Amino acid sequence: MNTADFISKKVTETIQKSTYTWQTPSNIALVKYWGKSNPQIPKNASISFTLNNCHTITTIEFEKISKSNTVTFELFFEGKKKDDFKPKIAKFFERIQEYCPYILEYKMVISSENSFPHSSGIASSASGMSAIAMCLLSLEKALNPDLTPDFINKKASFLARLGSGSASRSIEGPLVVWGEHPEIEGSSDLFAIKFPYKVHQIFENYCDTILLVDKGEKQVSSTVGHNLMHNHPYAEQRFKQANENLAKISKILTNGDIKEFITLVESEALTLHAMMLTSNPYFILMKPNTLEVINKIWEYREQNNSNICFTLDAGANVHVLYPTSEKTQVELFIKNVLADYCQNNQYITDNVGFGSKLM
Ligand code: DP6
Repeated sequence: MNTADFISKKVTETIQKSTYTWQTPSNIALVKYWGKSNPQIPKNASISFTLNNCHTITTIEFEKISKSNTVTFELFFEGKKKDDFKPKIAKFFERIQEYCPYILEYKMVISSENSFPHSSGIASSASGMSAIAMCLLSLEKALNPDLTPDFINKKASFLARLGSGSASRSIEGPLVVWGEHPEIEGSSDLFAIKFPYKVHQIFENYCDTILLVDKGEKQVSSTVGHNLMHNHPYAEQRFKQANENLAKISKILTNGDIKEFITLVESEALTLHAMMLTSNPYFILMKPNTLEVINKIWEYREQNNSNICFTLDAGANVHVLYPTSEKTQVELFIKNVLADYCQNNQYITDNVGFGSKLM
């Protein structure tokens, strides 16, 4: 499919007023997206686990108006009017207008809330943008009932990507690939797809506990972060490595080699941070407790012959990943040991989920 396939042309129904509510999840990348070109095209393919408990719920009320030149909308976040979020969403609507021209004929009232604490350092752009995209697709389906479920998911991912790259991976689950890759059939730079191969049962219902090591505002916005990869001395090698890692993890997910999984996932996390340590300007996004936690995880793994491992986002929080068979023991370890390294002892227990849900 190419970009033109996503331009909505056919409208057969008239909708005066309609309201849709979607719950869409956050996701955690195993092979990371870091570096992009215009318009939101990733420099390498990435793969993520879709989360379950960390999600956004968004309602959009659509009301038909006469066609306007700009998108008309109001925004509420957790029940309060949120004008400071408006420019980001306005920019998103501007970008997607050519694919969804019908949005110029509606007034939209958007109300959104997150299941995770607002200033937890957890990026809400993935779940937030994918939720808006799903609501738009619900309206588009009402206007054109011919749309198929497969097209709806692809277009929602396509639109979400234009809002935030990682949001493209928040439509489906449990494992999602974004970015064209020779070994992943059907993969595309334009939208994400469900990992298309059989997944070993050890990776089913995988657990992710997010340790809130530092809940402050992100030190590096994703826009600044991705820009750091332009003229980065190691960029080309990194993009190549990420694509190689995607080929490797694709096999690991099928053959169930969990030791290889751990090595690859932890290396990806540290490489992402290494890119920031070696960029110009440079950033250290880990905090002392991030390192303490990593060392404790390694110690626990060694002493208990465990399959626990970690990954990181572009921040100090740690995602602790473990198979569901170790849930009881690892959760005790988190509660008794790792929680001490979290701000106010806060962490979020999550597991892999199946993607967006119409409410
Ligand atoms: C480190 O998707 O937040 O989480 O496209 O600029 O919105 P934008 O960036 P964003 O970048 C996510 C980067 C990452 C890795 C990942 O999720 O793959």
